[in-house]
Amino acid sequence: MCGRQGEVGRAGIPKQETNAKQKADVKSNKGFGKNRKMSDIIEKLKTTQNAEDDEILRLLNTDEFDEELRIAADETKKSVYGDKVFIRGLIEFTNYCKNNCYYCGIRGGNTNADRYRLSKEEILECCAEGYKLGYRTFVLQGGEDLTYSDDDICDIVQSIKSLYPDAAVTLSIGEKEKESYRRYKEAGADRYLLRHETASEEHYQKLHPSELSLEKRKECLWNLKELGYQVGAGFMVGSPYQEPEHILADLRFLQELRPDMIGIGPFIPHKDTPFADFPAGDYKLTLRILSVIRLMFPYVLLPATTALGTISPNGREEGLRHGANVVMPNLSPVRFREKYSLYDNKICTGEEAAECKACLEMRVKKAGYRIVTDRGDVRR
Ligand code: 5AD
Ligand code: FES
Repeated sequence: MCGRQGEVGRAGIPKQETNAKQKADVKSNKGFGKNRKMSDIIEKLKTTQNAEDDEILRLLNTDEFDEELRIAADETKKSVYGDKVFIRGLIEFTNYCKNNCYYCGIRGGNTNADRYRLSKEEILECCAEGYKLGYRTFVLQGGEDLTYSDDDICDIVQSIKSLYPDAAVTLSIGEKEKESYRRYKEAGADRYLLRHETASEEHYQKLHPSELSLEKRKECLWNLKELGYQVGAGFMVGSPYQEPEHILADLRFLQELRPDMIGIGPFIPHKDTPFADFPAGDYKLTLRILSVIRLMFPYVLLPATTALGTISPNGREEGLRHGANVVMPNLSPVRFREKYSLYDNKICTGEEAAECKACLEMRVKKAGYRIVTDRGDVRR
C-alpha cells in the first residue's frame, strides 16, 4: 500500500518529505509497499536468478510491472548476447505421428490431416537452400514417425554434417530410447528439442492420453543431457487446465534441468483436436513469462516462436523485446507448409525460405536487434 495519508511517515521521516519521496519513487518505479516489493522481486530475480514461490506467482498474476520486467529482461539478455539474434532453419520433415496429444493438430487420430514425409534428398535440398541463405543451424522437426528408422535418422544427420561441417544439427523428433539418442549423437547431432509440455503430473495427464507420461518425458530429457546434447525443454502458455501453479512448477523443473534452450509459446486451438473449443493462451502472459525466464536463465537460447507471431501480428518482435534471442524461420518446401498444422492459422505458410528470412530480418531490425549467421551455441 502506498503510505496512508495523514499518518506518521515511515521510519521517522517527516510526513511531507515522505510524500514527496513517494512520488519520486513511484515515478522511478521504486515506490513503497506493493510497488517497491514488486520492484524488489524483479531486482532479486535479476541479480540472483531466483525468487520465492509466492513472489513468482505474484509477478505472473499482474500486468502492472510488465514494462519494468521487460526492461530488466532485455538488459540481462544484452549483457550475455548483446543485440544478436540467432536464426535456425526449421525443416518440418514429417507430419505423421503415432501419438495423440489432445492439443496437437498432427496427432495420429486426426483423420483430416493430409500427411506427408520428406525424403532424405528433399531434406538435403532444404539444407542447401538454407546454407546459401546463411543458416548455420538446421532443426529437423517431425511428429513421432517410426517410418524413419534410427539408421535413416543417422544417415540424414551424417549427410548434413558432412556437407556442412560448420552447421549445427538439432533434432526434434520426440521420445526415443537412450540408445537411439546415443546413435544420433554419434552421427553428429548437436542439439535436441523436447518440450516437457507441463511439469505437473496431474496437468500432464489432462493434456495427453494415458500412454504418455511426464516421467518418461523427463527421463528422455535427462538422457539427452547425459549424452552431451544441448537440450531444449519448454511448455505452452495457456494450455487447457493450466493454472499459475503449473507455470511455477515448470519454472522449478527448468531450474533443475538447466536446459540450454527453452521453447515457450501460447497454446492455440486446432479445429480437429479435442481442445478445439478452448481459448488460446494469453499474449501478455506469454511475453511476461519470456521475461521471467530470461531473468532466471540469463544464458538460455529463447525463441520468439511462430505461435507467438500467430496470436499477434508483432508477436515475434515483442518476444525479442521481452527477452527472446532466437527466431526459427521455416525452410520446409512451401507445398507442405500448411500440412504441418499444429494449431489453426499458423503464419509463414506461404513464403519461400528467402522471403521468410528477409521478412524476419526486417522484423528483428525493427525490434532493435541484429540477425547473425553463426551457429549460435549457448553461452554458459
Ligand atoms: N498450440 C501451440 N503449440 C502447440 N504445440 C503443439 N500443439 C500446439 C498448439 N495447439 C507445441 C508443443 C510441441 C511443439 C512442437 O509445438 O509444445 O512440443
Ligand atoms: Fe505427435 Fe503429440 S501428437 S507427439
